[in-house]
Amino acid sequence: MRSIRHAVAPVVAILTLLGCSPTDGAVAPTSPAPAGSVGAPGIGDRDFPLDGNGGYDVTHYGLALGYTPATKRLDGVTTIRARALQRLSRFNLDLSGLQVSEVSVDGTRATYSRQGDELTVVPAAVLASGARFTVRVAYGGEPRPITDSGNLGTYGFIPTPDGAFVTAEPNGAKTWFPANDHPADKAAFDFEITVPRGLTALANGELTGEPTTADGRTTFRWRESHPMATYLATATLGKFTLRRGETAGGVPNVAAVDPAYHGSLTKLYTVSGEVTDHWSKVFGRYPFSSTGGVVDDFSAGYALETQTKPMYGGFAPDESIIAHELAHQWFGNSVSIRRWQDLWLNEGFATYAEWLWSEHRGRTTADAHFAALRARPASDAFWTYPPGRARPDDLFNDAVYKRGAMTLHALREEIGDQTFFALLREWVERHKYGNATTEQFVTLAEQRSGRQLDALFDAWLFQPERPA
Ligand code: TRP
Ligand code: ZN
Repeated sequence: MRSIRHAVAPVVAILTLLGCSPTDGAVAPTSPAPAGSVGAPGIGDRDFPLDGNGGYDVTHYGLALGYTPATKRLDGVTTIRARALQRLSRFNLDLSGLQVSEVSVDGTRATYSRQGDELTVVPAAVLASGARFTVRVAYGGEPRPITDSGNLGTYGFIPTPDGAFVTAEPNGAKTWFPANDHPADKAAFDFEITVPRGLTALANGELTGEPTTADGRTTFRWRESHPMATYLATATLGKFTLRRGETAGGVPNVAAVDPAYHGSLTKLYTVSGEVTDHWSKVFGRYPFSSTGGVVDDFSAGYALETQTKPMYGGFAPDESIIAHELAHQWFGNSVSIRRWQDLWLNEGFATYAEWLWSEHRGRTTADAHFAALRARPASDAFWTYPPGRARPDDLFNDAVYKRGAMTLHALREEIGDQTFFALLREWVERHKYGNATTEQFVTLAEQRSGRQLDALFDAWLFQPERPA
């Protein structure tokens, strides 16, 4: 049962009580919606049936947020611009926890209900298929990150002693803003984040102006104008030291570190710049308007490839992980997956980039990395997980990373360096700012190499055993 928390406009409520249908086009929440006009509660990922939503496509998120670390209180107004992909008498957003105080569609108050992490919005007027519309959601409360019993750890909006560490893969954006929370629906973002004076708020993209301070609070405005998956959005905030400049290749570079990692600032800034410039040669032009990275004091023990500014949680990143997170800017962020089962397209590629970086720096070659893993005995549990089909209960299994990377190396051996690297660049160019699937990669690899590669990909991606 869905419960309707917010009362409809009084006149409509009375008409509904009287059993009359409202004449202004409003749909009373209890009346059955016309067939075919209800947006689905999930975007259609069979492994994550309630992630994302159907019936519309988001083009822009405007996030206006205020956060106070002392009280852990988040107040937000999220404004979503979208296009209806079907007639919509109602549609869903994903939102986890937090209290909603008001929802409007195209400036008119809408009714809404909540069930689990689904926020159902009933606009006053049915939206026509193809219509552009704007949803505004005012909300607040103490954000609760998601703690996964499997291997996902804690993710979402995570409070820290001096602020918050925000890393949301795979579906934790909903812990801090109402969203179509699935990588299949990418959108541009504007952030306006207000924090107590003395703190810094970091988000994706670039600052649109210098921060402004009033009444002891400072507002930071960031803009990511390139399409971005919701899990890549961040609003990490707290005490930070920044270094801003440009890479040798001319890409704006923003590095920020928590005071506890003061000694890592120069290395983070320098290596991030070198890696960005190197990958720009290997994979093609850097897809975004700035690069960089952030080290916070939350001991996540992991990093996330947050768009334009990877987040490193509680450790000084080495070259290898910087190379990994920045490779994701091409593989995962610009070219994004359409469904989570294809996660090797992100993690296998970024892991292979670690090997390429190590070889580039004159350390272990990609071939030696491959050989060391290939030497694991056939009985090793490593071989039982086929990386081409990432499982929702074990999404980030080591095989998705390492056997995914081995798949690319096996492909490279088969088709040769020249075709392999041209293929990577064409993959990135063809699907730039969009979404793609494993089948599309296999098809492109076969076209470019002129070879039948079914057996190779089947053995490396889909069989629960060590390839022969
Ligand atoms: N994608 C990250 C990486 O490989 C790892 C990761 C998975 C992660 N789930 C996460 C990071 C949740 C932060 C939060 O670099
Ligand atoms: Zn990764």
